[in-house]
Amino acid sequence: MRHFLDLAAPTAAGLRAILDEAHARKAARKGLPKGLPDADAPLDGHTLALIFEKPSTRTRFSFAQAIRQLGGSAITVSAGEMQLGRGEPVDDTARVLSRMVDAIMLRANSHATLETLANAASVPVINGLTDISHPCQILADILTFEEHSGRQVAGSTWAYLGDGNNIANSLVEAASVLGFDLRLGVPHGHDPDSAVMATACARGGSVDLVRSAEAAVEGADVVVTDTWISMGQEDSKAKLAAMQPFQVDAALMARANPSAVFLHCLPAHRGEEVTEEVIDGPASLVWDEAENRLHAQKAVLLWCLERL
Ligand code: CP
Ligand code: NVA
Repeated sequence: MRHFLDLAAPTAAGLRAILDEAHARKAARKGLPKGLPDADAPLDGHTLALIFEKPSTRTRFSFAQAIRQLGGSAITVSAGEMQLGRGEPVDDTARVLSRMVDAIMLRANSHATLETLANAASVPVINGLTDISHPCQILADILTFEEHSGRQVAGSTWAYLGDGNNIANSLVEAASVLGFDLRLGVPHGHDPDSAVMATACARGGSVDLVRSAEAAVEGADVVVTDTWISMGQEDSKAKLAAMQPFQVDAALMARANPSAVFLHCLPAHRGEEVTEEVIDGPASLVWDEAENRLHAQKAVLLWCLERL
């Protein structure tokens, strides 16, 4: 069963195949109306369940449109509308849905819920964000860098600034599998997940924790940040104060490679993790990045259903 739960489990060849498919499919359907299926409609007749325990704009729309462009259809529900919200066990839910749909995407509060669902499901399960990781987002980020720079991600240098959250964890996994350098500019006490870091380091990944924003971005090809307070986290003045030196502003971007690009998964908080000047400026690729969720996830769906 090819579940897509994180970026550490698939091989480098598997992730490369997903990225190559995403580039090719995006190019092939240029100019088509957004709701029209790709010419080969490879998932004709297939159904994808989209389940959300937390809010979403990009993940919801991009997955619904992804399965449609592959020839299939989506059933989208919030977990609160399901018996899941009244305490029906996750594994029973997995067994029932596996009889009715061809794949399940879950956005979960806890990564453990996603793992329970995957263990009991007999169809592929896809991570649409948990407290631990957001693998689909980072595939879209890599796709965006590659299409903009015209080079493959291996050998490039990325800087991540701010909170060591789900986005940071998935970047750590991607760097160690796909072979790019990652410098994490994060304040003490807000490090990425220790198990994720340990696995990446054991794999020989070039992943460094630095405590200075300037040192993190020096000569980087890509500068990435994310919200300082993630969904489900408590808003805290102390945390915001600790994050302030890691705000991405124009002076910080000037220390990166002159052709460096800026990425943010969105939603953004202008004036907190990034200034308006940077996110709305010429180095920012955030709108391409958001669109690329769609293209990346089409390839993820094909990989999960063993069409790649
Ligand atoms: N980047 C992202 O996952 O956005 P949503 O929360 O809107 O899905
Ligand atoms: N780290 C953010 C990402 C949102 C797409 C969160 O979990 O809220």
